[in-house]
Amino acid sequence: MADAVERKPPSGELVLSLRKVCKVFGAVSALTDVDLDVHAGEVVALVGDNGAGKSTLVKVLAGVHAPTSGTMTFRGKPVTLAGPNDALALGIATVFQDLALCENLDVVANIFLGEELNPYALDEVAMEIRSWKLLNELSARIPSVREPIASLSGGQRQTVAIARSLLLDPKLIMLDEPTAALGVAQTAEVLNLIERVRDKGLGVIMISHNMEDVRAVADRIAVLRLGRNNGIFYPDSSNQELVSAITGASDNAVSRRHERRQTPHGTEAEMRP
Ligand SMILES: Nc1ncnc2c1ncn2[C@@H]1O[C@H](COP(=O)(O)OP(=O)(O)O)[C@@H](O)[C@H]1O
Ligand SMILES: [Mg+2]
Repeated sequence: MADAVERKPPSGELVLSLRKVCKVFGAVSALTDVDLDVHAGEVVALVGDNGAGKSTLVKVLAGVHAPTSGTMTFRGKPVTLAGPNDALALGIATVFQDLALCENLDVVANIFLGEELNPYALDEVAMEIRSWKLLNELSARIPSVREPIASLSGGQRQTVAIARSLLLDPKLIMLDEPTAALGVAQTAEVLNLIERVRDKGLGVIMISHNMEDVRAVADRIAVLRLGRNNGIFYPDSSNQELVSAITGASDNAVSRRHERRQTPHGTEAEMRP
């Protein structure tokens, strides 16, 4: 049992602490009494089925939605976010799923989008140097910072979006499905990147549907179900435990299929329905 394993408590500072956060949209309760802690140097994966409230929680933390009730503590201080700029100013950065990059602009312009140095006489040299520095810190493989985004691969785009989010030196970074659109090699690159961000001492919240990716980088796995907390798990939790927490049932199509494939008797072909 996963619970029997002794867990080393996270050693980093408690960066974020949510207590009893609720978010109601009209008649829909998207979040109910959600608690979440994230420490410096920790990757917390946020998982849950469609409609579980993951994106809503990210938007609350990004200052896009005001919570209906509940408290948020950031680096030891109670905070309320009036808008996305408040979140950024506090040190909460978000890489949204659509990345929001400008295809026709180059890497430097995208990293500095909206934060241009001396906007009336752009300091291109300083921006280019800072871009390289950010990408180097991530050991990111980008051929040239003067390439337009349109010519980059999915993994490279994710890299640029992550580098951009680090520009204002955040303490917490949230990534919404960072590997969803990527192939195997690019996924591995982005997971490496996430580890480097963690190793810089940031708290990381990663939303993902992919349990393999979650297990590969998460220190803890927080499950949301129907807008509520439904358990904290660890990378060594079984698939069945995780799937049960996510779906709310121990007997379901995913776990039955998993068991069937693990049965030592018979061949794969015989076991297929
Ligand atoms: N802006 C909104 N207005 C009304 N309902 C919303 C809004 N955003 C999300 N919801 C509802 O809140 C619930 C949680 O959605 P969401 O946070 O997008 O889940 P997830 O990202 O886990 O798939 C869903 O029932 C969704 O329909
Ligand atoms: Mg979502």
